[in-house]
Amino acid sequence: MIGVAGLGHWGPNLARNFDDLGVLSALCDIDPELREQFARRYPNAKLYADFDGLVADDGIEGVVIATPVPTHYELAKRALAAGKHVLVEKPPAMRGLEIDELVATAAGRDLTLMPGHLLLYHPGVRKLKELIDAGELGDVLCVYGNRQNLGIVRTNENALWSLGVHDLSVVLYLLDEEPSRCVAHGRDFLTAGVEDVVFCYLQFPSGKIAHMHLSWLDPHKMRRITVVGREKMVVFDDMELDRKVTIYEKAPWKRTDTYGEWQTRSGDVFIPKIATDEPLKLECQEFLRLIAGEGDRRKVAEDGARVVRALDRLTESLRG
Ligand SMILES: NC(=O)c1ccc[n+]([C@@H]2O[C@H](COP(=O)([O-])OP(=O)(O)OC[C@H]3O[C@@H](n4cnc5c(N)ncnc54)[C@H](O)[C@@H]3O)[C@@H](O)[C@H]2O)c1
Repeated sequence: MIGVAGLGHWGPNLARNFDDLGVLSALCDIDPELREQFARRYPNAKLYADFDGLVADDGIEGVVIATPVPTHYELAKRALAAGKHVLVEKPPAMRGLEIDELVATAAGRDLTLMPGHLLLYHPGVRKLKELIDAGELGDVLCVYGNRQNLGIVRTNENALWSLGVHDLSVVLYLLDEEPSRCVAHGRDFLTAGVEDVVFCYLQFPSGKIAHMHLSWLDPHKMRRITVVGREKMVVFDDMELDRKVTIYEKAPWKRTDTYGEWQTRSGDVFIPKIATDEPLKLECQEFLRLIAGEGDRRKVAEDGARVVRALDRLTESLRG
């Protein structure tokens, strides 16, 4: 059974999904009004005011943490110490050292430490991964993400931490490598110390490169990941309703009769059907599978750590 901590904006979505899956047994928030509201919505769930009370509940195997980011490391550590499997909202910690410690604790106790990187459960992103892994695109050369809009202007978290964590999780999932170089540039135009516009550049040991444009000061509303391969190129566009993934038969090409000059070729454009399953439901199901011993717990935790380490290095570069 599952307990969900944090019933603010996002936690209720997790509670709803675990309830739909028939495994929600406890809820926790320090806010008494929220506890009262959720006690009415889920009369069969136990309500805790205190996180330590939740993790001491013997009826719970897995704890879901949807509290503010600065609390994640401490709460995840307490849940693991109590022997619970943990699904912790993104990012699971704020520093590379913290996440490495959580990963080691989870591995030592053979517990799940799963980060809530929602996009990794999006059927469109899964399609990109499938195309890359099947070699459909040829060698992947570069990946870039665009996450831009006018608003929502944040004042407590910069564009890298509030927007970039999504794209970073996707880039690292697709390429499955730890970056060798992480560079970020940005500016705090509206709130001192909170960068509204951030450009990130990542380089990988294989030679692949990636870029992310993150901004809430932009005329375009974009939620897009582009992957450029030697044989084909593919775009995942989350703003599209029924064209989430587009595969372009576009590539560089060397004709044998032109003294080795590079030309380009353009062929068909394909739009595969992408399932409309709710990514959050798939994420919750994955957590239950990991608790049940299916799947690779260590890889999931280590992949989460890779994102935090890269965020940490990008933050250092941004401030440096
Ligand atoms: N995956 C996604 O797409 C997505 C979307 C939105 C938010 N999030 C993540 O969800 C998390 C929560 O975001 P939010 O917008 O819901 O925040 P929020 O501030 O609206 O809600 C957080 C809740 O946690 C409670 N809380 C704080 N400390 C607590 C503690 N020690 N024990 C129990 N409850 C405690 C607060 O009272 C509040 O109700 C963040 O990590 C955020 O990054 C993820």
